[in-house]
Amino acid sequence: MKVLLAASEVAPVIKIGGLGDVIGALPKALEKISVNVDVIVPFFPSAKIEGLQLYKSFDLHVPFANKNNVVEVFKTKLPDSNVDLYLLKNEEYFVGESNFFANNLTETEMFAFFDRAVVEYVKSSFNTYDIIHCNDWHTGLVTAMLKDELGNERPRTLFTIHNLNYQGIGSPALLKDTGIVPGEHPLIDWDLADGDLNMMQQGVTSSDYINTVSPSYAKEILTKEFGSSFEDILKSREGRLSGILNGIDYSAHPRSYDINSVEEGKKDAKKALLERLKISPKHKDAPIFSFVGRIDAFQKGLDILFESLPELLKNDAVFLLLGSGDKRWEEKLATLSQDKTISDKFSCNIMFDIELANLMYAGSDFLVVPSRYEPCGLIQMIAMWYGTLPIVHDVGGLKDTVKNGENGFVFNRYSSQALLISMKEALGVYGTEKMQKMITASMRKDFGWEQSAVEYKKLYERILS
Ligand code: GLC
Repeated sequence: MKVLLAASEVAPVIKIGGLGDVIGALPKALEKISVNVDVIVPFFPSAKIEGLQLYKSFDLHVPFANKNNVVEVFKTKLPDSNVDLYLLKNEEYFVGESNFFANNLTETEMFAFFDRAVVEYVKSSFNTYDIIHCNDWHTGLVTAMLKDELGNERPRTLFTIHNLNYQGIGSPALLKDTGIVPGEHPLIDWDLADGDLNMMQQGVTSSDYINTVSPSYAKEILTKEFGSSFEDILKSREGRLSGILNGIDYSAHPRSYDINSVEEGKKDAKKALLERLKISPKHKDAPIFSFVGRIDAFQKGLDILFESLPELLKNDAVFLLLGSGDKRWEEKLATLSQDKTISDKFSCNIMFDIELANLMYAGSDFLVVPSRYEPCGLIQMIAMWYGTLPIVHDVGGLKDTVKNGENGFVFNRYSSQALLISMKEALGVYGTEKMQKMITASMRKDFGWEQSAVEYKKLYERILS
């Protein structure tokens, strides 16, 4: 069985978020169980290619926007594996992930072009792939174009939803650029009827099979609350929708202790962390709560966190935050951290730094993940590997990985009061024997990719039968 995994990013070469981690780790785990997977992504100028053996394989001619575009296909191996990684280079379209608007290029235009290029690539290596596995809206047009151009001769398609709320909404003119002719496709015409093109909708409606990154999220997106207005479309395809929990790549998270040496190990990490963030030694024995992640006001629960922080910090506790994103929320949080009543206990770090993140996972006592919705979430699993207890909202992958009172804390209602109650429970167990038991239970969990890869293999087989 040969699979092509198409996505916008792949760690560690191109890493923007959790999607990149998944695309970097899943093929390696599949390779170990004899599934042959290639990966294809845009070759952004920021790609980390030092140390990779990279060579140009061939030129692809990609018709797009009424012109013939040359895309250089570079080939390398995904680090520490035998997985072939194809990087598509074109300086007009793949200009850089934080610079989408250079030359008035929109993100949807960039990825419509990428999708056209992926389809040309598949056509050029015709019949070698059994399955094209697309991920999120960035690859939403691939499935429709394959159907259109290769009919029944095409590889089968799987579309994975990592985050339904980001949909890639663009101008209908993009379709013409890709060569798709509106008026000939009922599904596309239906999408365009409201005046724009929705790339997520294209992927969801025209793929052979759909999955999401946790079993609970697969159920949640069938409801109005979590369906981002796709609940009816998804319900109509329910028989072809499932959820597979992501794994985590433990090798990306070095740990200087294990389950037998966790007490000492965490003590050292905590000391190093407090020193690094210059927290006054008078708080050296206080419980540390942390937030690590994208500052996304809607998804990541910053509103309820913001409301509950002053109350939490009336106790002898320290709060550390690491992340970047939404400017308005970055400022609100930075301002709060300067409030005289809590400034010595709240360290607000607006940036992303993988080493500091790992130190925070290791040295904190509790990791707060108050997301309004969470398709999978990786950090709660990483926290558990470090023996740090997650405090999570009862949704999506958070619900599937954390058990209240056993290996973490789970609150049901999305509100600052509910979050605060959980954080106070955490304060209550801090330093007790129960906490030690919970730490051991959290570290016993195995969220490695092996199990998830087996599930993907079964799903691929099912799609092919
Ligand atoms: C998205 C989701 C996150 C998931 C990740 C990888 O970033 O928001 O929940 O863990 O994709 O699938």
